Amino acid sequence: MIKHASQVAADENEPIPVQPAEQATDEHIAPAPRVSVQAFCETVETAAAVQAAGEDRRLGKAHVKIQMGGVAAAVEAYRSSPTPNVIVLESENHSDEILHGLDKLAEVCDSGTRVIVVGRVNDVTLYRDLTRRGVSEYLIGPVGTIDIVRAICGLFSSPDAKPVGRIIAVVGAKGGVGASTVAHNVGWAIARDLLLDSVVTDLDLAFGTAGLDYNQDPPQGIADAVFSPDRVDSAFVDRLLSKCTDHLSLLAAPATLDRVYDFGADAFDSILDSLRGTIPCVVLDVPHMWSGWTKRLLVSADDILVVAGPDLANLRNAKNLVDLLRAARPNDHRPHYCLNQVGVPKRPEITPADFAKALEDQPLAVIPFEPQIFGTAANNGQMIAEVSKGHKTAEMFRQLAQVLTGRAEAKRSRGGLLTPLLAKLRRKSA
Ligand SMILES: Nc1ncnc2c1ncn2[C@@H]1O[C@H](COP(=O)(O)OP(=O)(O)OP(=O)(O)O)[C@@H](O)[C@H]1O
Ligand SMILES: [Mg+2]
Repeated sequence: MIKHASQVAADENEPIPVQPAEQATDEHIAPAPRVSVQAFCETVETAAAVQAAGEDRRLGKAHVKIQMGGVAAAVEAYRSSPTPNVIVLESENHSDEILHGLDKLAEVCDSGTRVIVVGRVNDVTLYRDLTRRGVSEYLIGPVGTIDIVRAICGLFSSPDAKPVGRIIAVVGAKGGVGASTVAHNVGWAIARDLLLDSVVTDLDLAFGTAGLDYNQDPPQGIADAVFSPDRVDSAFVDRLLSKCTDHLSLLAAPATLDRVYDFGADAFDSILDSLRGTIPCVVLDVPHMWSGWTKRLLVSADDILVVAGPDLANLRNAKNLVDLLRAARPNDHRPHYCLNQVGVPKRPEITPADFAKALEDQPLAVIPFEPQIFGTAANNGQMIAEVSKGHKTAEMFRQLAQVLTGRAEAKRSRGGLLTPLLAKLRRKSA
């Protein structure tokens, strides 16, 4: 412990490298539905941006095809074949040529097809002429991956729609590290302190504890939806929710063993799509396992929180998870992580500083091991803030709720959530 405390202090001034991709975007872009997109580019840079956009999680369901040749190639292509849902056209030309090309395209274009133009000319008159011709979006190049993602997804979410649901996935780096406890407390704080309508979704169908933790025993839950995929729509899923507090509902796991729970990779897609359409914030309690569907849920979430205990297996697993998810989500904020059950008496532990070094990122929170209060909460079916309102871990959950919903900057400095832990460690080493 003493060594750990000094180690943390010694490392305090070392900068943690930040990857440029992490600045990518924190903006909330709703995923596009299953649509076909064909791009006709003129430059390799734009072709590369569209290619990367096609690999973004938000276009995971869309089919994106890229050709070179600009408007002329598009006109040629659609003389003999039907047009897709979306055409992206790049044109390096002057205004007149762009408009002329579009007029020719209009002769062969199906009426339902939307057109996005990427051009070089920054001119209001051109913009008006394009709008008059029914072009949905005009992007001035050079364009980046996220510009293309935003433009395509934007076509399918109406601007006056209320904010679509943000999905926050919480997963443990190892079994039993407290991932569900963190997910439930954070979900509760999002509803209670940020007043956002939220649904906690318990994906541990066999053993999930969300029902116990919220003191609920609903007759229906997520199993009713996942085993009747044809019936899933917003109204159906709505009926499966059980209300916990003013703003919080639960999509509970059956926690029964009469059947087994082997799912295909896309088993939860329609449930999440319908939740996302009506609920501002969906917290997924993802069980600690690696299967097609858990991977898909994590990759497609808006934000991820990996919960790790302070030991070597957790460190390795957390790093593997973070590395894989960063690679799979190059245009997203990196996954967050927090440490939990830190400071078990007499247990040698890996320090937050060592985690920060290995994961190249500070933990969002370092939650101490507090068996008394966590045990009481679990056994009473209560949240930490209900057992002890002013408890420091209740404040940590509140802060996690803020960061994960994009309400606050991630405090990745040691002056943030780490302070209570450091104080404790320093007291012990004194
Ligand atoms: N900070 C903490 N201090 C003390 N006990 C904790 C803490 N966090 C969680 N616990 C306890 O640890 C146990 C396991 O927690 P939980 O079920 O949330 O873990 P999990 O990672 O979801 O486990 P599983 O892999 O089974 O899904 C629970 O009894 C919980 O009350
Ligand atoms: Mg769990």
